[in-house]
Amino acid sequence: MSLGISEAVFQVFSRAVPQTGCNEPRVNSSYLTLHSRFRVNCTRKRPSMHRHLFDCSSMLQSQLRTHQFQWMGVSFHLCKAYSHPWLQTCKCQRAESVGGTTGDGNGLRPVNDVETSNLVGNLTTAKHIQLLKQEEEVLASNVTNGAITDSFGTIGVNSVEEEAWDLLRESVVYYCGNPIGTIAAQDPTSSSVLNYDQVFIRDFIPSGIAFLLKGEYDIVRNFILYTLQLQSWEKTMDCHSPGQGLMPASFKVRTVPLDGDDSATEEVLDPDFGEAAIGRVAPVDSGLWWIILLRAYGRCSGDPSVQERVDVQTGIKMILRLCLADGFDMFPTLLVTDGSCMIDRRMGIHGHPLEIQALFYSALLCAREMLTPEDGSADLIRALNNRLVALSFHIREYYWIDMKKLNEIYRYKTEEYSYDAVNKFNIYPDQISPWLVEWMPNKGGYLIGNLQPAHMDFRFFSLGNLWSVVNSLATVEQSHAILDLIEAKWSDLVADMPFKICYPALDGQEWQIITGSDPKNTPWSYHNAGSWPTLLWQLTVACIKMKRTHIAAKAVEIAERRISRDRWPEYYDTKRSRFIGKQSRLYQTWSIAGYLVAKLLLADPSKANILITEEDSELVNALISANPRGKRGRKNLKQTYIV
Ligand code: GLC
Repeated sequence: MSLGISEAVFQVFSRAVPQTGCNEPRVNSSYLTLHSRFRVNCTRKRPSMHRHLFDCSSMLQSQLRTHQFQWMGVSFHLCKAYSHPWLQTCKCQRAESVGGTTGDGNGLRPVNDVETSNLVGNLTTAKHIQLLKQEEEVLASNVTNGAITDSFGTIGVNSVEEEAWDLLRESVVYYCGNPIGTIAAQDPTSSSVLNYDQVFIRDFIPSGIAFLLKGEYDIVRNFILYTLQLQSWEKTMDCHSPGQGLMPASFKVRTVPLDGDDSATEEVLDPDFGEAAIGRVAPVDSGLWWIILLRAYGRCSGDPSVQERVDVQTGIKMILRLCLADGFDMFPTLLVTDGSCMIDRRMGIHGHPLEIQALFYSALLCAREMLTPEDGSADLIRALNNRLVALSFHIREYYWIDMKKLNEIYRYKTEEYSYDAVNKFNIYPDQISPWLVEWMPNKGGYLIGNLQPAHMDFRFFSLGNLWSVVNSLATVEQSHAILDLIEAKWSDLVADMPFKICYPALDGQEWQIITGSDPKNTPWSYHNAGSWPTLLWQLTVACIKMKRTHIAAKAVEIAERRISRDRWPEYYDTKRSRFIGKQSRLYQTWSIAGYLVAKLLLADPSKANILITEEDSELVNALISANPRGKRGRKNLKQTYIV
C-alpha cells in the first residue's frame, strides 16, 4: 500500500474530527501549515509542542472551561480548570511534600522532581523498615526451623503478593488527580534516576493488565486516552520528524508555573519519542503495545466505547499507516533500527527483529478486530489483511528452526540465482555457531531473532517467541515446540530467576563489535542475556494458551523464592541468574506487575483471553491458497485477501 500525499492529508484531516472529552486538542486544517513551517524553519525557537497545556483538572471532573487560542496558525481548544481550589491543591501538595509527608490527603499525589525525591526518600525509610522486619522474621524462622529454605515460607506467598500490590499502587502516577500510568522504578538506593521516573508505554502494559484483571479500569482508560493525545504531537530530532503515528517511549508529568500567574502551577505531560532517550532510539513497539492494551481494555471491561471513539479509531489508523507504509523493503516484516523495542540499546537487532514482528502481528490482528468499517478505510483493511498473510507465512517459514531445519541449513547450497532458490537469503552454513549445534534439543524448536540477506541471528529472544505463541503467529506445532524447548533448556532460560531476555550472551570480539563494547550489556547482563522477571507474564499467557500452565507455575514459584527479598530487581546477571543485575534498578514496576499478572492469570486462566488471539481460519485459508512455498509464487502473492 502506498501512503500518498492524499492519504497523508486524510490522516491529518481525520484528526480534525470533533472529539469527545474535554481534554483533547482539536487541530484544524491549518495543522498542515504548521507542520511544514517546522520543517522549513526548524531552528526557530518555539514553545515545546510536547507540552500538554490542557486541563488542570480531571477528565472526569466538570469544572472545566474550554478555551480556544491560535498558535502558529493552529486552533487549539483547551480545557483549563479555573477552579482555584485545584490550583491551591497543587501548591499545597508541593508544600506538604517538601515538609516530608507522602500522604496525599486529598487524593492527589506529588509529581514533580522535588516531590518525587521526597517520595523516594520516604519510601526508603518505609521500605527499609519493612525489609528489616522481613529479615528479622527470616532469621527467627531459621532459628526455629533450622532450614534456610523454610525462610521463604515465613514471608509467605500471600504476603509477597500483598507487597507487590502495595508497591504497584505506590508506583501510580497521577495527572491532575487522575491515575494515568505507573513510574518505571522507585529505587531508593539509586542515585541516578535517569528516565526511570517516567511512565514508559511498554512498562505500563503489565501494570495495566494487572489493574484490568483487578477490575480497576480507570487508570488504563486514562492511560490510553492521554497517550493518544501525545501521539499527535510534532516531534523532531535535529530538524527531522519521524512519521505521524509514532507513540512516545515514555512521558513524565511535570508541574510548572502557570503562565502569567506566579502563585499557581499546572501539570503538563512531557513525552519522549526517543529524542532524549539514550542512543536516540525510536520506540517502534509503543504504538503496537498501545493497540494490544486497547483491545485488552475493551475485552476485560466490556466497554467498547473507548475503542469506538473517533479519535481512538484515528489513532489506530495512524499507527497502522505508519507501519504499513511502503518502503524499500522486500520483506513483509517491519524494518527497524537497533534498540526499537524492550531491548532499547545497541544489541545487533536492527533489521527485522522477532520481537517487533510478533508485536506488529498482534497489533494488526487487534486493530482488525477493533476498526469500525467506514468509507475510506477499505484500502487500509485490505493492506492490513494482505500483510497479515504475508507476515505469518514469512515468519513461520523462514524464522523457524529445529533440528531438522538446522540440518537443512547446514547442507545449504549458496549463490542460487533463481525464483525457486531453497536458500533464498543466501545463508552461508558456516554461520551456524558451535553453541547452537550443541544447544538445539532433539525435541523442540524456536523462531530465530532476525533474518536479513546472508544473515540469520540464531539467538533465542524470549519475548518474540513467547508473544508469537500468544498471538498464533507461530503454528500450533511450533508453539508447542517453543514450550518444549523452554522445558528442555530450563537451566539456561530460567535457572535461578525467570526469564532470560535472550540466549546466549554475546561475548569477546562479538560483544565488542555488536554492542560497541557497551559496559551495561556485558555478557550475561542486562539485554545481553540477563534475566528479566517481567517476562513472567508473557510466559504465563503463552503457557495458558497452550494449556501447559504447569510450566509457568514452576517459573513463578522460582521467582517467588527471592524476588521480594531481592527487592524486585529490574534484571539479574550471570549465566544462572544468580546475582541482582550490576546496574539493575530495585523496585522496578514491571517486575512487580509482571509477577502479579502471572499470579492473577494462573489463578484464573480464562482471563488470559483478553491477550490471546487464536488462529484465524480465514487467514489460514488465505495462507493455503496463496502459499508460495517452492513455487515462483509472485503471482499468487499478488492476490489480495479481502474479508
Ligand atoms: C530499560 C529497558 C526498557 C525499559 C526501560 C524502563 O531501558 O531496556 O525496556 O522500558 O528500562 O524500565
